[in-house]
Amino acid sequence: MAENQTEYVYFEGNYVPFDDAKISIKTHSFLYGTSIFEGIRGYYVPEKKSVSIFRMREHYDRIIANGKVCHLTPSQSAEELEQITKDLIQKNGWEKDTYIRPTIYKSGINITPRLDHNVTEICIWTQPLGEYLALDKGLNICVSSWRRLADNVIPPRAKAAGAYMNSALIVTDARAMGFDDAVVLTESGHVSEGSAMNLFLVKNGKLVTPATTENILEGITRDSIITIAKNELGLETEERVVDRTELYTADEAFFTGTGAQVSPITQFDNRPVGDGNIGPIAKKLQDLYFQVVKNKLPQYSHWCTEVALEPAKA
Ligand SMILES: Cc1ncc(COP(=O)(O)O)c(C=O)c1O
Repeated sequence: MAENQTEYVYFEGNYVPFDDAKISIKTHSFLYGTSIFEGIRGYYVPEKKSVSIFRMREHYDRIIANGKVCHLTPSQSAEELEQITKDLIQKNGWEKDTYIRPTIYKSGINITPRLDHNVTEICIWTQPLGEYLALDKGLNICVSSWRRLADNVIPPRAKAAGAYMNSALIVTDARAMGFDDAVVLTESGHVSEGSAMNLFLVKNGKLVTPATTENILEGITRDSIITIAKNELGLETEERVVDRTELYTADEAFFTGTGAQVSPITQFDNRPVGDGNIGPIAKKLQDLYFQVVKNKLPQYSHWCTEVALEPAKA
């Protein structure tokens, strides 16, 4: 996108300039956090002048499923939301890795917290995005003193905006103490996930990750890594309850997420993970992940939606 070119967003049924997409201070979702969202990444592929959107369909299927939990059902189908996203990528034309943020929200101004008493709308915006967490330094992670929200409190699975106050407290306090981020435990003291990413450990040549019953977001990157590890490296993943002390005895560790991608961890609570260096399995999975998301491995091209930034020449 050229400098001074209009940045378009999708707002309540129309493509409008970013500056025109405004909501009232009485909006229900602003007052109560009653919205659900997705974070999707598109990777710029310079040789094709295209953006490869990673597992877009799974993100829209997830937000539509979460809408059932939270009474936030959009009027568009997953196919329609995919098309809107492709249009936005083309309209904005950023020759950069791009973050895509759809939000389904209660847009009415009825002040009761009821979810069935307010209009539902959707907006989607995009912006260039680089690294969210360091990819090659090795992260120093603490165990947060906050606990993860439980499924019967505000379901983390639903990716509800209000639940991210929990994430905000976790990451803010971790940073204030000099850590890169934190792992959070469930009320029963087992490992859940990071502030906005899933966690993997490597133990005795296997991957270990907290089960979906441990109040995690069921990450699309998590699922991708489980699949890539099995297909490309022959590594099985144990999805199970993980004790805190398993963090300190792991051979390797890394976070996964649309933002975090594959971010290796080299310390938990100032104890070295393995020998304190980025582990070989984490590194291999990170390399494979970047090939997959940039649509370089044909066996995973069904996960990539390529959007050409310029129409093909006749
Ligand atoms: C709390 C939380 N856990 C895990 C993840 C990773 O999920 P995904 O891989 O679908 O982006 C996210 C989102 O990035 C998240 O917000």
